[in-house]
Amino acid sequence: MKALVTGCAGFIGSNLTDYLLENGFEVYGLDCFTDNYSYLIKESNLQSALKNSDFKFTEKDIMDVEEFPEVDYVFHLAAQAGVRDSWGENFPVYTRNNIEATQKLLEFYKDLKIKKFVYSSSSSVYGDVDLPMKEGILPKPVSPYGVSKLAAEHLVYLYWKNYGLPTISLRYFTVYGPRQRPDMSIHRFVKSILKGEEITVYGDGEQTRDFTYVTDVVKAIAIAAESETNGEVFNVGGGSRISINNLLVEIEKVSGKKARINYFQKQKGDVKDTWADLAKIESVLSWKSETDVKTGIRNYIDWYINFYDIGGGR
Ligand SMILES: NC(=O)c1ccc[n+]([C@@H]2O[C@H](COP(=O)([O-])OP(=O)(O)OC[C@H]3O[C@@H](n4cnc5c(N)ncnc54)[C@H](O)[C@@H]3O)[C@@H](O)[C@H]2O)c1
Repeated sequence: MKALVTGCAGFIGSNLTDYLLENGFEVYGLDCFTDNYSYLIKESNLQSALKNSDFKFTEKDIMDVEEFPEVDYVFHLAAQAGVRDSWGENFPVYTRNNIEATQKLLEFYKDLKIKKFVYSSSSSVYGDVDLPMKEGILPKPVSPYGVSKLAAEHLVYLYWKNYGLPTISLRYFTVYGPRQRPDMSIHRFVKSILKGEEITVYGDGEQTRDFTYVTDVVKAIAIAAESETNGEVFNVGGGSRISINNLLVEIEKVSGKKARINYFQKQKGDVKDTWADLAKIESVLSWKSETDVKTGIRNYIDWYINFYDIGGGR
């Protein structure tokens, strides 16, 4: 089986790439190393994949590719991720990498006989809606990033509707685990707590998030690829929510260190709460979240200490 993974050098894309290679896929990886975080981190994300002869990597921007590889599956993860930077003059980066790049891929694959196009959408499409967040509710994103992810999700649907391209969109809820992006909260919190540095929490810390462990997300992507269902959207969440204050308590317990917290004003585009309703993905795709936050945080801190080689002082 052949698969294209866009954004293969990123956090989730590199975890998916490793999983596919371990499971006998020939993987075509595409990534242009955008500057949202360090090139070195993205390069290291690809280290194990690059040792595998079934991995063919192209360092290129989707918008500059003339011909994509002929594959059985397309896993589209490349995007400009992150809510807070999506305002103002940065917005064209989001429209280009999230909307236009998705449309370009869909155009290329619309007449080819692929088995599935899996699009990585986001809980950010919802905005401040009733909890738990259900796929059927009218999304009302509150950030330009959320708008760009929703626009691309609509494009994915219409290539199914009009061209019969077999697609599924997965709305991930705050993903964490090995290789998490350095701008994301769990990474920032763990780093600062281990180093004894001050942490900035936006808002009063009582906002809640449904955190999803990356291996669970990778499994959801793999299951979606094999399913008979098309044109649908599914939540992929951890299935519970925790406040940022309680998350910090968990990190303190595992690391054995105290957090020094500086509360700062809430940021534009941040929603109050997220919580995935998982009834649809559990019943239609038979996927279940397997990693609770306590286990996930423990695994993540172990990985972090090992990866950044700082010993953690434990
Ligand atoms: N991490 C999360 O919590 C989360 C939550 C919801 C949705 N998502 C979605 O999952 C996907 C992966 O997110 P991530 O956290 O791994 O982000 P990431 O930034 O680590 O990975 C994205 C990768 O895409 C690449 N890329 C961006 N634009 C490109 C282009 N035009 N051409 C080629 N490569 C390009 C980047 O260089 C990067 O390596 C994204 O689509 C994101 O919107 C992530």
